[in-house]
Amino acid sequence: MRDNCDLKQISRPLLDWYDTNARKMAWRISPKARAEGIRPNPYRVWLSEVMLQQTTVAAVKEYFDRFTRRWPTVEDLACASDAEVIAEWAGLGYYARARNLLACARKVTLEYGGKFPTNRVNLLALPGIGPYTAAAISAIAFDLPEPVLDGNVERVMTRLYAVRVPLPTSKPQLLTLVAAETPLTRPGDYAQAVMDLGATICRPRSPSCGVCPLRDLCNGRAQGIATSLPFKTAKVPKPTRNGTMWLAQRNDGAWLLELRSPKGLLGGTMGWPGDAWDNVSGPPPLSANWRDAGTLRHTFTHFHLNLQVLTATVGTSVAPVRGTFIPPNDFNSQDLPSLMRKAYGQATLK
Ligand code: ADE
Repeated sequence: MRDNCDLKQISRPLLDWYDTNARKMAWRISPKARAEGIRPNPYRVWLSEVMLQQTTVAAVKEYFDRFTRRWPTVEDLACASDAEVIAEWAGLGYYARARNLLACARKVTLEYGGKFPTNRVNLLALPGIGPYTAAAISAIAFDLPEPVLDGNVERVMTRLYAVRVPLPTSKPQLLTLVAAETPLTRPGDYAQAVMDLGATICRPRSPSCGVCPLRDLCNGRAQGIATSLPFKTAKVPKPTRNGTMWLAQRNDGAWLLELRSPKGLLGGTMGWPGDAWDNVSGPPPLSANWRDAGTLRHTFTHFHLNLQVLTATVGTSVAPVRGTFIPPNDFNSQDLPSLMRKAYGQATLK
């Protein structure tokens, strides 16, 4: 039997619950396998954590399987080209993450011989690894007692301690609480247990408090306010911006695409030429008889975008001022970011 003597008050019931209720995930080691001494693969833990930033477990699964089939080790990924990685990432969003992913794989391969550093400070020095991801990798991959605070953990802690200060103001307080609760025994399983509890029982809207392993310890429940926590500071509404995108196809089937600059929105991805999406219409990439294919709406983190989609068919001798015509054999709309795929769907419907 494992030695549980140094576990704090919530970690024992949580770990007991996790032993039978842990969700299965491709990058995880089950509690049983872990108890038998099997360790998680740090590359898979890191990859999953980067993919899971701002995305759900369900959305990541397919991407994770494809990435690890194509690049089974960090060294394999380090050898990939930027374009290959960005194309596999298409649809996950936040493309700076894909570029950082590759930069990180190269640094781990070249500077650490393909072995991820174990401690938080060295992990933080790697591209694309912030405080959350560094703590999550240390805890999950290396079983170090680092405080892991993601959205699910924030909610669990806020309810458990009935924290009435709204998010995000309460974050430092929550981090202190997480640090105090994190056990020295099985910190990796513990971190994932809190995440799973948040995802499956301590859900945002209708938590299943009756079956929660922490129900008798939960101050939010005792005070009858669990469901309404965490309070949130009122959000500033997102502004709406307007823009134009031009989809030109040559008679031979080639599509006009351009590589977006590495910095900024959808940086480093291939896309349809557009203006600056700042309410001021810019010049088209070539002169043609442009047809209006309608307006589509897309939401980014900081603004909504109303995008007018214009299409044209042109002859093979036309020379664009921007972008490159990509022949049909080299074009796959699935390799484009979601917004570009949406524009393509809209243009080709008409
Ligand atoms: N979210 C981020 N990392 C996770 C993990 N390892 N398990 C469950 N949810 C997560």
